[in-house]
Amino acid sequence: MKILIIGSGGREHAIAYACSKSPKADKIFCAPGNAGIAQIAECVPIGAMEFDKLADFAKREGIDLTVIGMDDPLVGGIVDVFEKEGLRVFGPRKNAAILEGSKAFSKDLMRKYNIPTAAYETFTSPEAACEYLETADYPIVLKADGLALGKGVLICNTKEEALDGVKTLMTDKQFGDAGNTIVIEEFMTGREVSVLSFVDGNTIKIMSSAQDHKRAKDGDKGLNTGGMGNFSPSPFYTAEVDDFCKKHIYQATVDAMKAEGRPFKGVIFFGLMLTSKGPKVLEYNARFGDPEAQVVLPRMKNDIIDVFEACIDGTLDKVDLQFEDNACVCVVLASDGYPVSYEKGKLITGFENFEGKDDYFCFHAGTKLTDEGIVTNGGRVLGITAKGATLKEARAKAYEATEWIQFENKYMRHDIGKAIDEA
Ligand code: AMP
Ligand code: GLY
Repeated sequence: MKILIIGSGGREHAIAYACSKSPKADKIFCAPGNAGIAQIAECVPIGAMEFDKLADFAKREGIDLTVIGMDDPLVGGIVDVFEKEGLRVFGPRKNAAILEGSKAFSKDLMRKYNIPTAAYETFTSPEAACEYLETADYPIVLKADGLALGKGVLICNTKEEALDGVKTLMTDKQFGDAGNTIVIEEFMTGREVSVLSFVDGNTIKIMSSAQDHKRAKDGDKGLNTGGMGNFSPSPFYTAEVDDFCKKHIYQATVDAMKAEGRPFKGVIFFGLMLTSKGPKVLEYNARFGDPEAQVVLPRMKNDIIDVFEACIDGTLDKVDLQFEDNACVCVVLASDGYPVSYEKGKLITGFENFEGKDDYFCFHAGTKLTDEGIVTNGGRVLGITAKGATLKEARAKAYEATEWIQFENKYMRHDIGKAIDEA
């Protein structure tokens, strides 16, 4: 089979890696891809939002299956364009990707179908939002309705901060139209867990859990980022939590989307908070997480192409999804200064250390191949990943491997998974 993957981050590298293990994959393409993906796939210089060009390419090359990694093209309707051209594609249609594309939609869905989440109100005018904030409890959370590169969520400790937040989102439009509508919601406390799932419209199969580290600095200090590292499985995702979510969250979400005439096929990523009153949904994403894919997919035993096809064909109930009984840790090597400002174009050395080591992975995120060699090309540069029998072992191996790679301004957190393996 010929496979095309859309995207260019560590997540897409992990998807390409999983596809490359399948005996069914004769050839893998990735658009636009990156320097690491280029080692296992042919990168095609077409942007992820150029739907017509991508569909033309898929037809011309005789692509058998296209996998969409990123949120923007999904929310923009790439799946509808591919389906209209008779192409097989893995991911939700536009009317289902709204589960991630609009927080107001997802909150209303949860309210309507009694899926546990934080209490909230939706606002379309800054005046009404500010009036509500006069009598609200603090801290409080402000969320831009639309996609905002994971940065459209503001946690406000005081009324002043919140009023300022409304200005940032709605008046100054820091995230453009994403802030035309905002959700203001109750602040919750608890452990966060990421749960990815495959969905075929009716059936949902849960992948192994993961735990992200979103803040830039050790000890969960500093700014929120796209994720500085993570691990799988999460020890906090207990059988009891799993049981609760199966009863009240997972199938309920799939059934709700179906009842709304928006059947969801693809990956639903449940961002959960384990509160004292039980697990609640923080957010939905309509795709694999990044870096969650880097720690979950290397542990998956199934042929990923079989699973993609089952989701498209509506036969996921026949799939026995299985994960290795081990742990996986990913430490992100970033450019110093991320997520604010950082330099690019620094030469990266040491990739050869990963060769022939099955338990170690060097997933590329922001890298670029130049005449000089592979150079940094983004804030998050590489996801250094390792599997081990236990979380502690996987963590030690991942940190060992971070020393194999060198580049100027290399920055990482030193406590990915630490609080947990010492707990
Ligand atoms: P989201 O993009 O909705 O997942 O929000 C990004 C991050 O903001 C989450 O991972 C949480 O750490 C935090 N967050 C979002 N909503 C809430 C909430 N209601 N209470 C507390 N923290 C939240
Ligand atoms: N790691 C969080 C996300 O992919 O949105």
